[in-house]
Amino acid sequence: MSTPSHTLSNTQTRDMASLLHPFTNLTVLRQTGPLVVERGAGVFVYDGDGKDYLEAMGGLWCTALGWGEEELVQAAAEQMRKLSFGHIFGGKSHEPGIALAEKLKEMAPMPVGKVFFANSGSEANDSQIKFMWYAANARGETARKKIIARTKAYHGVTLASASLTGLDAFHKSFDLPFDFTVRVECPHYYRGGRDGESEEQYSARLAADLDATIQREGPDTIAAMFVEPVMGAGGAMVPPKGYFEAITPVLGKYGIRLVDDEVICGFGRTGNAYQPDSMSLAKALSSAYLPISAVLLSPELVEIIEEEAVRIGGLWHAFTYSAHPVAAAVALKTLEIYERRDTFGHVRKVAKVFETRLKALADHPLVGEANGVGLIGAVELTADKKTKRNFEAAKGVGARCGAFCQEEGLIVRALLHDRIALCPPLVISEAEIGEMFARLTRAIDKTLDWVKAEGLL
Ligand SMILES: Cc1ncc(COP(=O)(O)O)c(C=O)c1O
Repeated sequence: MSTPSHTLSNTQTRDMASLLHPFTNLTVLRQTGPLVVERGAGVFVYDGDGKDYLEAMGGLWCTALGWGEEELVQAAAEQMRKLSFGHIFGGKSHEPGIALAEKLKEMAPMPVGKVFFANSGSEANDSQIKFMWYAANARGETARKKIIARTKAYHGVTLASASLTGLDAFHKSFDLPFDFTVRVECPHYYRGGRDGESEEQYSARLAADLDATIQREGPDTIAAMFVEPVMGAGGAMVPPKGYFEAITPVLGKYGIRLVDDEVICGFGRTGNAYQPDSMSLAKALSSAYLPISAVLLSPELVEIIEEEAVRIGGLWHAFTYSAHPVAAAVALKTLEIYERRDTFGHVRKVAKVFETRLKALADHPLVGEANGVGLIGAVELTADKKTKRNFEAAKGVGARCGAFCQEEGLIVRALLHDRIALCPPLVISEAEIGEMFARLTRAIDKTLDWVKAEGLL
């Protein structure tokens, strides 16, 4: 991608000399410098010149209540004054940790025995893998080591969770994935569905493929399957109709546990479609005001894990900051706000506008697929609408569209296959959704002009 060189500001120069940037095209970054964000209010963030950007990604799929929520600031300050640090090792505890665990048990869409806390989605998912192995060992099922995950899945970047992540970029040069990973096809009807096949038939085929994979690997060697309700970083892809209804009985037949990675989707973004054995939560748990994640475990899993812990003299897994009282207090306040302001009801209302506006973009000449559910979705830019042909990855069409969005005052995320993801704060208003799509449409129009000028169509 040819990008004009800019004169970098002092802040940009300091950034380039000191910060190791992840998830970034470093060649482009060296030319353009980073966008240094200074402050945020509601669904907008602002750079040093005061230019506003509608944050259509809620940061990193996480700032559910938007920026500048004073009640969360107060909750953090009050807890810091009262008990700035506390832990739950060696028989200690504290009120914010207890109250947050209680609240999560009450809110969960599944029966929950107990809650384990960590600091990030990756840590939650690594903990899940360890709990699955621990529980299998406790039951004498010592061969159950493999974990099923899907192509294009995103479960994090720590060694084990990155192994489950189904995107090559996260494995290259890192000597990953570990060999406990078993890969099955991700459910994406636009790409994976065959001519004449309905969504339900596609789901049934994926379930049959899953069954065949399990048979091939040996059902007794598989501990669990990880799923995201809507696949996030892999492309913001909504599963086809009947997908979870089709795969859950297959797992049930072989005693394979279903681990629900709700790190993006939890807390009202999409709604819940199935009953897992355990669930990972992060991001919107504290509206991203402080790092905290949680693993919700079924009563059966808790019983098995605690019995094993008694047998071997303790559960030797937790982090210094598990159930950090300040993060827990902020999360508790976040959940209280969701209920008091009926945030999930608001999402159900504005999601209709979001889905309608998003799907309408499918008529744009540059857009192959435009799909979403709740307040998450994506548009896929294609070189040929009819054949669904993608642009060559090296042309960086998605990244170019992301840059045009930034020019228009919109922050999106360009994912694999030129998919432009949207995941705005849950508090976004109908008017702001209108503004988001106006800016996005202008950016896609500019991308079309650029694609034509470059002779890429
Ligand atoms: C579904 C999912 N799981 C896990 C993670 C990892 O979370 P973290 O970046 O907090 O480690 C993410 C991050 O985007 C995610 O989207």
